[in-house]
Amino acid sequence: MASLGIFDSGYGGLTVFKAIRELMPEYDYLYLGDNARAPYGNLSFETVYEYTLECVTWLFEQGCDLVILACNTASAKALRNIQQKVLPERFPGKKLLGVIRPTAEIIGNFTQQKHIGILGTAGTIQSGSYLIEIDRFYPELKVVQHACPLWVPLIEANNYASEEALAIIKSDIEAILEEDEKIDLLLLACTHYPLIKDQIQQFLPEHVNIISQDVLVAESLKDYLQRHPEVESKLKKTEDKQFFTTGDPADFEAHTFMFFGKNIEAQQVKLVNK
Ligand code: DGL
Repeated sequence: MASLGIFDSGYGGLTVFKAIRELMPEYDYLYLGDNARAPYGNLSFETVYEYTLECVTWLFEQGCDLVILACNTASAKALRNIQQKVLPERFPGKKLLGVIRPTAEIIGNFTQQKHIGILGTAGTIQSGSYLIEIDRFYPELKVVQHACPLWVPLIEANNYASEEALAIIKSDIEAILEEDEKIDLLLLACTHYPLIKDQIQQFLPEHVNIISQDVLVAESLKDYLQRHPEVESKLKKTEDKQFFTTGDPADFEAHTFMFFGKNIEAQQVKLVNK
């Protein structure tokens, strides 16, 4: 029997994990954060691919048959290559899912104007992955996007409500609204951004709704498991949760309440190339 693996560059995936755990508390989970090498947001395609592959390999080696890349940047820059080039040869039978496709599949249901804005890390935005995936499901949507490279560091430093932080958030919101004034839906396409939903909201006109992916991804995973009983039936159901980080476990633990809403104990993982 296997645990469900969840990977993120660091703490951010805990927002996704929180929503998954709330919806499906029965399963065993193994979370890995690559904190020693995070943030991934500004790293090259090659580097994000290499780091993500190393972490996913570790999760597979721990016995996870299904791993969720709970990180937009890794989903944008590494998922497809790993799915197409690595899994069939090295890990046949293992499954890897990201956060972009489940979001793209459903996003069209939340906009009336059919104009949406996407906020994410520089890596996610530059990859164009959301534009490609959304176009597949909703070619009629007009989508604009904007990178917010300062938001992750502000959130991790717990500094997102300061005057300086609010000025940065305001200017990014203004920038995306200027791109398309008809936007009525703003997607928070980064694991960290749900934490500053209130701060973002205050700079948005009333008719613009925010959608964050944590709940979307959890619901999509539940649906996936219902459609794939061959995967679901192999998952352990003892509600066990284990947390691993490539960084300092004490530092990881100090951040978890903010992202996960619970205190946890983390263990350190030493990866070969780290
Ligand atoms: N987890 C990343 C994402 O969702 C944000 C943090 C990072 O840049 O590593 O894009």
